[in-house]
Formats: sequence, C-alpha cells, structure tokens
Amino acid sequence: MHTKILITGGAGFVGSSLALAWKQEFPETHIEVLDNLKRRGSELNLPRLQESGILFRHGDIRNLEDLEAVGDMELLIECSAEPSVLAGYGGASAYVVNTNLMGTVNCLELARKHQADVVFLSTSRVYPLKSIGQLEYEEAPTRLALSSNNSFPGVSSQGFSEQFPLEGARSLYGATKLASELLLTEYIEMYGLRAVINRCGVLTGPWQMGKVDQGVIVLWMARHFFQKPLSYIGYGGTGKQVRDLLHVADLYDLLKIQCEQLDQHNGVVYNVGGGLEGSLSLQELTTHCERITGHHISIDSQPETRHGDIPYYVSDCQKIREATGWRPQRSVEMTLQEIADWIAEQALVLENILT
Ligand SMILES: NC(=O)c1ccc[n+]([C@@H]2O[C@H](COP(=O)([O-])OP(=O)(O)OC[C@H]3O[C@@H](n4cnc5c(N)ncnc54)[C@H](O)[C@@H]3O)[C@@H](O)[C@H]2O)c1
Repeated sequence: MHTKILITGGAGFVGSSLALAWKQEFPETHIEVLDNLKRRGSELNLPRLQESGILFRHGDIRNLEDLEAVGDMELLIECSAEPSVLAGYGGASAYVVNTNLMGTVNCLELARKHQADVVFLSTSRVYPLKSIGQLEYEEAPTRLALSSNNSFPGVSSQGFSEQFPLEGARSLYGATKLASELLLTEYIEMYGLRAVINRCGVLTGPWQMGKVDQGVIVLWMARHFFQKPLSYIGYGGTGKQVRDLLHVADLYDLLKIQCEQLDQHNGVVYNVGGGLEGSLSLQELTTHCERITGHHISIDSQPETRHGDIPYYVSDCQKIREATGWRPQRSVEMTLQEIADWIAEQALVLENILT
C-alpha cells in the first residue's frame, strides 16, 4: 500500500472523508492535504484533520509553486474542484477552467515529477446534456424511469454505462473534467504514470457542505431539519428527477481496492455510483427527510428547468463490479440517517452554512 499520500482539495467533503478514513485504517501512512478553502465550510474539517495527524497545507492547485512545496509522495488523490455544474453560466469561466483543468494539469506535473500514482475523481457530468435529455422517460407516481424503448448505446434499465456516447456539450464543469481525463490518459502513455479514473454520480455523507448547486442531498436534509423552505426546480416542478447516491465511505472502500491493484486498473475509466438500488427522486428524498426529521416543510414548484440540469442519471456499475467485486454497502436509508444525525450533532455551526 502507498505510505505517502497527497490529497488535493483535501479539506473538502470527499478529500477530507478519504483522508480521515485512510488514516484511521492505516495510521502509519503520511497524509498531507492541500486546499485553498474556497468552499464554505471546508474550514470546519481542519481541526478534524489535525487531530488525526493529517498535515494541512493552505495552497492552490492553480499555482504549481504551492504544489511543489509539498514533499515527496507515492499517491496523489485529486479531489479539488469547482464542483458546481452551474459554474460559468451567466458569468466568467476562469475559476472553473483554471482549477478543474489547468490546476489538474499542475497536479499531473507534480505526479510526474514524483512518479506518483494518481486517483482522479471525475464525474457522471462528462456525459452530454442533450443526449441524456432526449432519451425517453416514463413517469411513475414518484419518479421518472428510463423507458425500455430507448435503444441508445450505454443505456439500459440499470442506467448509464461507460459506453454512453460523449459527443455534445456537457457544462464547463463536465468539460473540464473530461479534458482532464484525456490529459491524464496522455500522462499515463507518455510518462508512465499509473492512474485510475472514476466517473462518480452523486456522492454524499456527513460533513458535506450541501448547497443548492452541489450537495443537494445534505441540503435537502438540512432544510427539513432547520425547517426552511425548498423548491422542486425544473422538469415541471414535480420533484421526479432521479439521481443515484453513493456514501463517501463506499467510495473509500473502492479506492482502497483500486490502489491495491493499480496495474489492473491503470488507465481504466469506471462509472461509480449507488446504481439503481441507490437511486431516488427528489420527491422520494422528501419522504425520507420527513420520516427522519418528523418535519414537513414548504416545497414550492419552479417548473422551468435550470441550465445544465438533467432529468435522470443512474450509474450502471457493472464494469467496476466485475473488475473488483465492489458493491456499495450503505443503503439510501442508512446514508440519510447518518447525515441527519450529523446535522443534529453539529446544528449550531451548520445552521448558517447549510440553510
Ligand atoms: N460530491 C459529489 O457529488 C461529486 C460527484 C462527482 C465527482 N465529484 C468530484 O469529487 C471531487 C471532490 O468534490 P467534493 O464534493 O469534495 O467538493 P468540495 O467542494 O467539498 O471539495 C473540493 C475542495 O477543493 C477546494 N478547492 C477548490 N478550488 C481549489 C483550488 N484552486 N486549489 C485548491 N483547492 C481548491 C475547495 O476549497 C474544497 O475544499 C471533485 O473533483 C468533484 O468534481 C464530486
């Protein structure tokens, strides 16, 4: 196993969760995290990281100098990002492009210099918006479902596989991630790096600083907990849009397997998510949140669909399952309950951030 790890974006939700889980299971591992603390709430993770013996470096992946100040490493897990699919709409593209693309290239340069292995967290948002939107969906009582009439590559009752065609626009967020995947593939070929690419669906769990444009599961639970209003936005405003969700601890379990057998996964792209079993619509999420918190809040309806939105995404995880035997172990119910318990425990600090 790797004994020196750098996690960029390591004060964020995924980065800090991975760092803490890794350190707990492998206390001898030297872990450094680098983060510019742009995401509101990431600062709350700093004492948790410090208490676990994880070194925090304040730095920005857009500056190669910040990265070069980090010592030697054997593994780089790239978790820093502007993770909002709305980034750039109606404004400048600079931050999302400079961080998610140029910053990633800086991370690859650092990995090249140290011949470190790379885990790249890509996204289901690399799949084009129009193609997903133009598929046929059926309207069940609480959610949309993929129609069996769709005969489109990479689409089945199990969701979207890696075979889904990549032609078409996908948001700057998705495009910068896809461009980074392509560059990473070149670094593998040209410089002999070893790396794996995981296209993740919705990731969630405690310590996610959910907001309207990213981290919606936590936001939904928090708004129920604090009894603040919400809106069903887009697709007629009925809350039937569907996503699959994956507990970040299940992602950790997978990365551990991949890092142990990196030669086998080198250069391979996997769709990673909760799958059909781990999927839910916003309406169904509301029902869970009401049951868990006992609160019924006002949810208004905004029929108009936002830029960059899609009606449905479920990760077809057959490829990663066959390659590793990995399956998520945390159910939707368990994951939501854990989130609610965390919000209740940390209510005082979270109220201003999550509402
Ligand atoms: N959360 C999800 O649902 C999800 C789904 C698919 C992929 N991902 C990917 O997983 C990774 C982690 O996402 P997350 O949910 O933890 O997001 P997050 O916003 O919680 O964490 C990202 C961290 O990166 C930091 N950061 C932003 N710009 C930076 C920069 N220029 N230099 C250094 N640090 C910077 C932020 O301060 C933040 O702490 C991202 O690459 C994201 O694209 C997340």
